[in-house]
Amino acid sequence: MLLFFLLLMANFEMHQFLIERRSIRRFEHRPIPSDKLHRIVETALYAPSAGNTQPWYIIVVQDTGSCRLIYENTLWLAGKPPYNEAPSAYLLVLWEKARCPDWPGIASCAALCTYILLAAHAESLGAVWIGSITNKDLLIHHFGIPKELDLFSIIALGYPNESPKLVPAGEDYHPYRRDGQLFVPKYSVTDKVKFDRWQ
Ligand SMILES: Cc1cc2nc3c(=O)[nH]c(=O)nc-3n(C[C@H](O)[C@H](O)[C@H](O)COP(=O)(O)O)c2cc1C
Repeated sequence: MLLFFLLLMANFEMHQFLIERRSIRRFEHRPIPSDKLHRIVETALYAPSAGNTQPWYIIVVQDTGSCRLIYENTLWLAGKPPYNEAPSAYLLVLWEKARCPDWPGIASCAALCTYILLAAHAESLGAVWIGSITNKDLLIHHFGIPKELDLFSIIALGYPNESPKLVPAGEDYHPYRRDGQLFVPKYSVTDKVKFDRWQ
């Protein structure tokens, strides 16, 4: 009976863990220990991929100059963080297109990004997936990314300095900031899930 209860609790906690992961866009100004970063990338490599091709590479970026360059060349929803609340590290996710082209490759790299977000959450770090890169060529050149790899996305990482609040989504689903507080609208099962058939 006790074992059943403990398993039920663990199950509940796992769901809470997934529900509570939020994109974080305001960070404390302190470095991330390298063992945390190692655990995140190691775990992320267990993400699913089409045909198990694992068509990805990751560059871990921590040096101040490179972080600044990424900060300056990315777009942030609900306002870019002030520089003193910028991320302490970034993970560049690279896509080896020839190994897994088209949508299976995109979906696989997206699965890797999702695993990174969850692994960061497991380390009590904040993270946000950045797909909007304003000058990709500049970053590709700066980081010496070989031409057979595409810069797929960037994950920003740091110690969270904000706690986004969930609100019900309606016609407007855009996250918004009011008096510094970030609100994130989410739809419910009733809005988004059908059982057995559409009607
Ligand atoms: C493919 C993809 C690209 C994204 N690109 C950006 C981006 O360029 N800038 C940004 O601030 N957030 C970006 N995000 C984060 C989303 O804005 C965020 O996931 C969404 O607002 C929901 O918030 P949540 O992650 O807290 O649930 C991206 C997310 C995904 C999945």
